[in-house]
Amino acid sequence: MAVRFDEKKNLFTLQTLDSTYQMKVDDHGVLLHTYYGAPADETDFSYLIGPEDRGFSGQPGDEKKDRTYSMDYYPLEYPVQGNGDFRVKALKAGFEGEVPALDLRFVSYELEKGKYSLPGLPALFEAEAGEVETLKITLKDRLEEIYVTLFYGVFEKKNVITRAASIENRSGKNVTLKRALSLGLDFMEGDMDLIHFYGKHAGERQFERRNLPHGITEISSSRGTSSHHHNPFVILCDKDTTEDFGNAYGVSFIYSGGFKIQMEKDQVDGIRLVCGLDDEEFLWKLAPGETFVTPEAALSYSEKGLTALSDQFQKAYHANLIRSPWKDKKRPTLVNNWEATYFGFDAEKLLKIAGEAADLGLDMLVLDDGWFGKRNDDRTSLGDWFVNEEKLKGGLKKLVDNVNSLGMKFGIWFEPEMISPESELYKKHPDWAVHIEGREPGQVRNQLVLDLSRREVIEYVYESVASILRQANIEYVKWDMNRPFTDIGSSELDADRQGEIMHRHTLAVYELQGRLLKEFPYLLLENCSSGGARFDPGMLYFSPQIWCSDDTDAIERLAIQESTALMYPLSVIGAHVSDCPNHTVGRVTPFKTRGIIAMAGTFGYELDVTKIPEEDRDMIASQVETYKKYCPLIQSGDYYRIASYQNNHYFDCYEIVSKDKKEAIFVFVQVIAQPNMHSI
Ligand code: DGJ
Repeated sequence: MAVRFDEKKNLFTLQTLDSTYQMKVDDHGVLLHTYYGAPADETDFSYLIGPEDRGFSGQPGDEKKDRTYSMDYYPLEYPVQGNGDFRVKALKAGFEGEVPALDLRFVSYELEKGKYSLPGLPALFEAEAGEVETLKITLKDRLEEIYVTLFYGVFEKKNVITRAASIENRSGKNVTLKRALSLGLDFMEGDMDLIHFYGKHAGERQFERRNLPHGITEISSSRGTSSHHHNPFVILCDKDTTEDFGNAYGVSFIYSGGFKIQMEKDQVDGIRLVCGLDDEEFLWKLAPGETFVTPEAALSYSEKGLTALSDQFQKAYHANLIRSPWKDKKRPTLVNNWEATYFGFDAEKLLKIAGEAADLGLDMLVLDDGWFGKRNDDRTSLGDWFVNEEKLKGGLKKLVDNVNSLGMKFGIWFEPEMISPESELYKKHPDWAVHIEGREPGQVRNQLVLDLSRREVIEYVYESVASILRQANIEYVKWDMNRPFTDIGSSELDADRQGEIMHRHTLAVYELQGRLLKEFPYLLLENCSSGGARFDPGMLYFSPQIWCSDDTDAIERLAIQESTALMYPLSVIGAHVSDCPNHTVGRVTPFKTRGIIAMAGTFGYELDVTKIPEEDRDMIASQVETYKKYCPLIQSGDYYRIASYQNNHYFDCYEIVSKDKKEAIFVFVQVIAQPNMHSI
């Protein structure tokens, strides 16, 4: 049994192979968080709290005598606003028009075999029968009929515990959720380092490690995507934790919209982490009888340092989050025409590229942006998903058939969630764009976001994409999303539901991708968001690969891909060999090096194979052959970071080793040579 409830001690103990997680219902019915860490027995760890009368840390209403009992420093499982806890909270909820206030107490629990599910949301699933146990704990406000259920999925052998929460309004009045996060995690004390990724467009997921200071530290996105700027993933570890030694806790949020991870080091040097939906633009109305379900977050712990923690996330996400039939298959090696032609292509040019690529052993041509409406630059036509026959004479089917006859598969790009103000669609439906009535919305890349809180817009988007896929033998879709949200408003939603737009948008994206995969089950879907602004676990539930970054410079990619692999499997990292000098940073890198670095991901080319120097072209066939040979190892092997160019500024080194340790790929990249050094 991975989950046990000791009725005498009121103790929940969740065991994975290499970790123990413990909660206790105390005498007041409050659910305390008492332990998460190295494997332990069922000792009641609440003795570690050490109650004291702490100045100005008050007592809940039903505790008048014991001045040592305070929500302000006790380790709590799901902290809420309104009970005298002044640290960061997971939930802020209350009746409409009132200041949020709850005081949650234990009601009941349920234990089930298998994994709970979260309707409409991505979540880890049971891949092998019997590998997961579910625990549900129900809490209720001390006074009102407002219930919170906490969900736990214990993946014993994977060393992963998933969490989510639901909030149910059984009262007769409207409840407003001002914040509804997926988890709280309290450490009674700690001097910890925080590891996270910061970044920017064409510079995502840069590794940063710093000591967690007193006060609140936040890693978040309120852009409507998980963002280029932060990733919904943090590690808290001991100061001396290395790749191979030391305690490390990973928290990953399985969601593709805005998120918030806050960590607070408090007055007694305790650390609290809360994680869930971004709440900057969030206000959710919970009418009587309604339930709100949060997205899922995954926790993992290792006492053997960062490599083991990475491995736990990589393996669990590969096996238990990616559903695509492609997940263990060799992915088609592709040539994408974006950096080859940008908007300047026609059918003839594409066929020339496809023909050359076929001769070199590549499997697929991907037609990127610019094939529809009047889109000859990025100023027009998003939303007008009909083929531009001036560019593609004879239509899409003819092009796809011709590409197929060369022995190549065909893939295509969409940006379904967007609308260009200069488009047929906008002329007909200006109110379909997210906007605030009476205010001219701001543009990013000359485009607006479609209002996916409207059912008719969801249906339009679905049909736009599906009808193209029904026209021809299209085997791959790159689903792009190229702007953050601003001017958040919907002309359809009621005034008291405008704060729901962002979350409803993400739910609609999940619905659309889910439906698409139901109609086209073998479609290879690659998510993308101006590079890697949606490189998150939520997307992996739908697409087995994600475009990693618009920075295609191989040397820059060393850092980006290496940080990405801190939790994501290599099998999901979209990586292509691009042109030289590189279009983003202008660097010149040998073709061989570019090829090797792109192999730590899903391999392809992002250049015009008909135009590159002959000596480079001559290397393609053998690069493709090498990738195909090692693809299974890259997809399933254990990944070791050995030296990081980001740290040492001279060289990079990593290794991928097969399970049976009989095969390994060892990569060393000398970025800058140093004179008269020891050989490495
Ligand atoms: C952003 C993507 O990241 C690129 O790869 C490319 O598809 C462009 N969009 C096209 O507009």
